[in-house]
Amino acid sequence: MIKFVDVIYGLSWGDEGKGKIANALAEKYDYVCRWNGGPNAGHTVYLNDKKYKTHMIPSGIFKGKKCIIGPGCVVNVKKFFEEIEYLKASGFDTSLVKVSPNAHIITEEHIQFDVNNLKKGLGTTGQGIAPCYADKMLRKGIRAKDLFPSEYLWDGKLEGKVLCEGAQSVWLDIDHGCYPFVTSSTTMPYGACSLGFSPQKIRRLIGVAKIYDTKSGVDPLFPESLWDDETLNKIITIGEEFGSTTGRKRMVNWLNVDKLMESIKISGCTDLVINKCDILQAVGTFKLKFENKLVEFSSLYEMQRFLDDVIRDNTDIVNIQFSGHKENVATPEMAQ
Ligand code: IMO
Ligand code: MG
Repeated sequence: MIKFVDVIYGLSWGDEGKGKIANALAEKYDYVCRWNGGPNAGHTVYLNDKKYKTHMIPSGIFKGKKCIIGPGCVVNVKKFFEEIEYLKASGFDTSLVKVSPNAHIITEEHIQFDVNNLKKGLGTTGQGIAPCYADKMLRKGIRAKDLFPSEYLWDGKLEGKVLCEGAQSVWLDIDHGCYPFVTSSTTMPYGACSLGFSPQKIRRLIGVAKIYDTKSGVDPLFPESLWDDETLNKIITIGEEFGSTTGRKRMVNWLNVDKLMESIKISGCTDLVINKCDILQAVGTFKLKFENKLVEFSSLYEMQRFLDDVIRDNTDIVNIQFSGHKENVATPEMAQ
């Protein structure tokens, strides 16, 4: 029987540090599951100062947890096995990784279509995501059960404490994001129920954001003129804001607090983690956008106090945690 489910997900435009939080909390759970996306995601985890990157396999692998790739995910088989080999070579137990028989397979044609027709205009990651989900909806897709070796196929069971690790984020959600500059899956935490449990099982909704906003690829909220701002460029360099899947330089903007509070509210976030505060500290400029105005603070502490107050006043959030780039955090209430 499932005891409870906690869901980690992005509140912004991806790359908020979901993998780091999943790794920090994974110890307490029996399963770590992905419910959406595929190789378009890039989750970075630091263990003993060593950097590990995964795209499809849940970050629970680093803590020896059962790792599930759910029916709502899309899988590139070649890349999946490359990731398995990479993790095995690094000493992790990859026999814990299972793929839902109903997960859809990304084909070479999907990738070609994405690269030739979508990558430039929409700024996709070129991983064949949209064409694969399109074939799924057309009900002509190929599924994991059609070609995965049986030892990798998931039997559909979940037991005990379950952690779900989202890919992408609220503003990339197919229904809630800035369409068509979105991804093709449900990034909202309710999408986690596609793994096969009822919404009543969800205990905490752990939303992850950063102390500044970034966007990988095209989006009207991130105009070209942002490239001209010297301080924002400093954040890119110090914050290492380069795509972990594509290597592209991300666009950076000051934290849009109105958008953040909107995503907190529509997703039902109970626990908020705001990452990469140390990057802003290193840059030494403390700004955010609130009620469409740019507000500047004299210190990080002042900015954090403002955020804490305004978010608590305007949302139902229970818990707010500020965190650094590589430092692992777990809020006490969550880690039980
Ligand atoms: P993680 O899980 C940031 C963005 C792409 C593009 C749009 C559509 O690491 O946060 P797609 O290839 O999905 O059709 O691209 O979504 N995108 C991401 N941006 N982090 C991600 O994942 C992303 N996955 C997709 O840049 O704008
Ligand atoms: Mg990423």
